[in-house]
Amino acid sequence: MGVAGTAGVAALPGLPRWAEVSERRLAHIARVTALLDAWARALRLAPDEAEAWHDAGRWHDALRDADETTLRALTPGLDRPVAVLHGPAAAARLMAEGERRDDVLEAVRWHTVGHGDWARTGRALYMADFLEPGRTFLQADRAFLAQHLPHDFDGVFRQVVRMRLEWTLREGKALFPEAVDLWNAVR
Ligand SMILES: [Fe+2]
Ligand SMILES: [Fe+2]
Repeated sequence: MGVAGTAGVAALPGLPRWAEVSERRLAHIARVTALLDAWARALRLAPDEAEAWHDAGRWHDALRDADETTLRALTPGLDRPVAVLHGPAAAARLMAEGERRDDVLEAVRWHTVGHGDWARTGRALYMADFLEPGRTFLQADRAFLAQHLPHDFDGVFRQVVRMRLEWTLREGKALFPEAVDLWNAVR
């Protein structure tokens, strides 16, 4: 898989220097962060929380295109498929670099799977990752939910959790315990 060169990374300020992301992924990260910034403005979040949302968006897929050896080395003892390791690996890397905001770390760590005990930062990232406009499925439904979110954060979150889990089941993919906790927390 292609890894972004210096030019690509430089084009997206705020990405960690250790990021391993393709050009396509960079564009996704930029769209997710832009959506989080727009929601933060619409909700008139305090600067600290708006910054947490922004950073979670910037960092969540920083290791999305890293190889399995790198991801497993950063997540010792975590017996999970490689596809869900980039969140925990990025969180481990951020912690090692001194990041201490729990809401940001938990958002990045669990963004692929979900978590029943998230602060708003984790819930916002989970929604932005799914509702960003670059994804090609259910475009009208997702655009509606993205627009509606500032008026009903919890209602949109419940709907996004439902849509993501329905897809997981339909595809026959594994349901992780954290995703089950999440469903039980919002249903
Ligand atoms: Fe991801
Ligand atoms: Fe993502």
